[in-house]
Amino acid sequence: MNCKMWKTHYDKINKEKHPLANTLSQALNLISSRDGLKEFQAIDLGCGNGIDTFAMLEKGFSVLAIDKNPDASLLLKKRINPEHLVRLSFQNLSFESLDELPSADLVNASFSLPFCHPDQFEKFWSNIRGCINSEGFFCGHFFGTKDSWSSNSTMTFHNLEAVKRLFEGFELLYFEETAKNGKTLSGKEKFWHVFHVVAKKLHSTK
Ligand SMILES: C[S@@+](CC[C@H](N)C(=O)[O-])C[C@H]1O[C@@H](n2cnc3c(N)ncnc32)[C@H](O)[C@@H]1O
Repeated sequence: MNCKMWKTHYDKINKEKHPLANTLSQALNLISSRDGLKEFQAIDLGCGNGIDTFAMLEKGFSVLAIDKNPDASLLLKKRINPEHLVRLSFQNLSFESLDELPSADLVNASFSLPFCHPDQFEKFWSNIRGCINSEGFFCGHFFGTKDSWSSNSTMTFHNLEAVKRLFEGFELLYFEETAKNGKTLSGKEKFWHVFHVVAKKLHSTK
């Protein structure tokens, strides 16, 4: 998708007042019982218009939001609570061009990782795994091989075994596979095959 199409997507999400992602909501419930939330470092990959970013800032986390679309930065700045500005940083980068991510207690990737080019996914995933601190969290989504978009060779799709393999060294706290007809935000019919994941990195996993 190009930047203009993402802009339409963001406008629709704003207008319809979408809530934060269910996977992030679950992760935040698990994390809220832990100490030290003030120093909690989170990364929001493919932050879009920032609904998830804002939810993490609201919790008191410091957030590095990353998106290849420069509109994302403008939308974050427009809607952020000014008191939270000091805890937000934004990088206008593509997943494919990222060499290293800073260490984080939580990596959130809501409906964004499938848009990483398959040739770069393995390197990017290893980068994500490596940046999550011991006992830190990942939450997000992967698209399955039965998804309507799976013929798109620039996107990354996984089957059940492949998604489970990504989380070796993690405890899966929530895992759901959904496969159903639905619509895109622009109203087009589509078959959605999605894996919804919340996971915690085990102690001493690289
Ligand atoms: C479906 S939107 C999800 C936005 C947000 N996470 C949410 O759940 O509302 C996907 C986002 O990923 C970003 N994106 C897509 N491909 C990307 C890439 N290769 N590198 C970085 N960001 C990308 C898009 O610009 C878009 O903001």
